[in-house]
Amino acid sequence: MPAVVLIGAQWGDEGKGKITDYLAEKADMVVRYQGGNNAGHTVVVGENEFKLHLIPSGILYPGTTCIIGNGVVIDPKVFVEELNYLHDKGVNTDGLRVSNRAHIIMPYHILQDKLDEEYKGVNKIGTTHRGIGPAYMDKAGRTGIRVVDLLDEEEFGVRLKRNLLEKNRLFNKVYEVEGLEFEKIFEEYKGYAKIIGKYAIDTSVIIHEYLAEKKNVLFEGAQGTLLDIDHGTYPYVTSSHPVAGAVCIGAGVGPLEINDVIGIVKAYTTRVGEGPFPTELIGEEGNRIRECGNEFGTTTGRPRRCGWLDAVILKYAVRINGLNHIAVTKLDVLDKLEKIKMCVGYKYKGAMLNDFPASLKVLAQCTPIYEEFDGWMTETSGVEKYEELPLQARIYLERLSEIIKVEPAIVAVGAKRSQTIIRENIYSDS
Ligand code: IMP
Repeated sequence: MPAVVLIGAQWGDEGKGKITDYLAEKADMVVRYQGGNNAGHTVVVGENEFKLHLIPSGILYPGTTCIIGNGVVIDPKVFVEELNYLHDKGVNTDGLRVSNRAHIIMPYHILQDKLDEEYKGVNKIGTTHRGIGPAYMDKAGRTGIRVVDLLDEEEFGVRLKRNLLEKNRLFNKVYEVEGLEFEKIFEEYKGYAKIIGKYAIDTSVIIHEYLAEKKNVLFEGAQGTLLDIDHGTYPYVTSSHPVAGAVCIGAGVGPLEINDVIGIVKAYTTRVGEGPFPTELIGEEGNRIRECGNEFGTTTGRPRRCGWLDAVILKYAVRINGLNHIAVTKLDVLDKLEKIKMCVGYKYKGAMLNDFPASLKVLAQCTPIYEEFDGWMTETSGVEKYEELPLQARIYLERLSEIIKVEPAIVAVGAKRSQTIIRENIYSDS
């Protein structure tokens, strides 16, 4: 089963980094295909902790080719910083390739993101302020700058000048702040171009080569299904497509190339930023999960909102992504809870809703219907086999599988590579 897509099934932060890292061991190639440095992965290798935002975590395995695909938006400053961070930790990055069609995040995108959020006030999205939205806006508006343009000094200069004219008018006249200087950005980005240039190619070509040779290719999604600009809780979403279908566009492969789609499901639910969250726990219970699960953003450090597992969301994620496996993460975070709840349906104006609603007004008024489970009250972090999980933990997982009709192939009970229970091998050993 060579081509596997791994996506977040909730609002992001499901622990994709850990599962990617696990699967990357047997992958010949790991590909990122959307988002940018709004993502954040923490990977623990032995005693070392790695925090990555842009470069696929597969880079930690020597010999694995890592791709930043055309669908990703790249902040070159972050890219260079991340390279240096990896080099300082002794990681070899020779296997890294960057799509020459990927769009570049510019300083004006970051400024625009911040100003726009400030301007919106209470209606803000709660973005990561990394310039992601404005970069995708310019891509769709056909004024974006791609890696290939950055590498062509003359072309870059022309485009930067043209874009700054428009952006500075926006900054001066609408937001009433000072604009940005051409020379400073031009010089800075020329430096980045020298480094990115070493990695830039048409990545779709090499992905195809690997797929044609039946090598194991892992497509690593960022964010989560409910942050998808089409399928998520719009407008409280990111500006890209974290769903599985985005692989085709963001990496340049056809849909028939994909063999497996794994949804990463945290054993409870979290979200950062604004927007309705039906199973949110406000107060002591939420705080307990947040502390126990260390639910603070890798990218922004913001405390994440925490709540019970929501099977309505997961049923939706199964449908939208065509999930044929799930990987449940952070089960150990629930170890000390006497009672655990799972939302199995929504009630809206006295009636049951069959599907996850499009309207946020409706979602905000949905009352979760819960099933309550006895907690297992035993440490699971040392468990190595599924059958050895406490009975109550298995009851909890099996009830979820019954509702969403997808079984967990992997269950994670801690941050370390060793704390991963495998029920089904996704990649063969060959
Ligand atoms: P943006 O992607 O920075 O534009 O932020 C848009 C929304 O997506 C905000 O609610 C962010 O908190 C959320 N978001 C973006 N990236 C992540 C992520 O990696 N994990 C969780 N939420 C994210």
